[in-house]
Amino acid sequence: MRETEAEARRPAGSPRLGVGMVGYAFMGAAHSQGWRTAGRVFDLPLQPALAALCGRDATAVRAAADRMGWAGSETDWRALIARDDVDLVDICTPGDSHAEIAVAALEAGKHVLCEKPLANSVEEAEAMVAAASAARSRGLLAMVGFNYRRLPAAAFARQLVAGGRIGDLRHVRVTYLQDWLTDPEAPLTWRLQRDRAGSGALGDLGAHIVDLAQYLSGESVVGVSALTETFVTERPLPAGPAGGLGGTAAPGERGPVTVDDAAVFTARLSSGALASFEATRFAAGRKNALTIELNGSRGSLSFDLERLNELSFHDHTEPAATAGFRRILVTEPDHPYLDAWWPPGHGLGYEHTFVHQARDLVHAVAEGAAPVPTFADGLQVQRVLAAVEESAAKNSVFTPVQVSVPA
Ligand SMILES: NC(=O)c1ccc[n+]([C@@H]2O[C@H](COP(=O)([O-])OP(=O)(O)OC[C@H]3O[C@@H](n4cnc5c(N)ncnc54)[C@H](O)[C@@H]3O)[C@@H](O)[C@H]2O)c1
Repeated sequence: MRETEAEARRPAGSPRLGVGMVGYAFMGAAHSQGWRTAGRVFDLPLQPALAALCGRDATAVRAAADRMGWAGSETDWRALIARDDVDLVDICTPGDSHAEIAVAALEAGKHVLCEKPLANSVEEAEAMVAAASAARSRGLLAMVGFNYRRLPAAAFARQLVAGGRIGDLRHVRVTYLQDWLTDPEAPLTWRLQRDRAGSGALGDLGAHIVDLAQYLSGESVVGVSALTETFVTERPLPAGPAGGLGGTAAPGERGPVTVDDAAVFTARLSSGALASFEATRFAAGRKNALTIELNGSRGSLSFDLERLNELSFHDHTEPAATAGFRRILVTEPDHPYLDAWWPPGHGLGYEHTFVHQARDLVHAVAEGAAPVPTFADGLQVQRVLAAVEESAAKNSVFTPVQVSVPA
């Protein structure tokens, strides 16, 4: 789709927010869906225009741009961030390029949305926070893409916790389980290489659940005791370009896996509440199984991504004879994001988190308000991941986490 056609398809009436995106595979497709849809479902103060998509192969990126609705295409992210029709740069590449692209985009005067984990190290994340803070004084915003915050059930759970409905927090129990690496012949993609991904299941899945636990509880992880393991230490190289989650193995050549396959850790939160986390790609039968439960003095909340329109709530102040977990169908117009969608009971899915992410960021840009999660939130998660690795290297010794000052 060329610019005139893209403009023609853009709902009229609001000023334009030009988006340029780097990377067009898994997250690129999900974010494209978000940018395409947000202004057609929500009443937005700015209309996202899909200005240009960046990849490294000219033919492939042009084909992806046409398929996903982007007007222009680029083969160098530096050219993308220099474009006058790009106001916001959306980074959907592996972690090894997040810091370089985000810092350059902010310095070039663009707002930034960066996929999680924010970076591959605490040092990179600190540099990104510094760049975001300097850019903020020039009216630029930076957000990290922890999209699970944008599940209506998660956003509603946060409202219940903030409203005191579970009382003083005692426990947070989180798991994020996948099984796509159980086959030892699955190829060595970028997600299994430390220099590309930073860490393994820890940075990929653990980052999500650390952020979700901190967001829902409104607290920070202040220390961890951890175990990590790499069950399969060598794998076949991928045959040709492979997406981060699979592809075909090449016969013969093998290479070392340089990240964890699984991470299990306990943690203390700032209030003294105790938390447990499990992140693995070796849980046979579990495809994308994220569960979280919070127990407090007045009640409990429980969520399962495989039933993402539902939230379980137990009100412990009710008479014991009739109290119990109740299943709330989070599809009412009073629930977060739901007033713009379908009649009650008609359900949303995974992709809607990216629509909500685009919606929230557009509002933040229009209103000049810092969008959450900020880069400082991303740095805080990065500090937890680093502490987990440090603790695991020392046989689970309890390792404190420096708590970032919110930006
Ligand atoms: N929020 C979520 O739920 C979620 C889910 C999956 C991945 N992620 C994150 O999104 C990011 C991307 O993961 P993915 O699964 O989409 O990976 P992927 O392998 O599917 O896609 C990566 C894309 O980046 C491109 N790319 C890599 N280096 C580039 C460069 N220098 N210039 C231009 N393009 C480049 C690749 O060609 C590809 O299009 C990672 O940070 C990952 O952790 C987030």
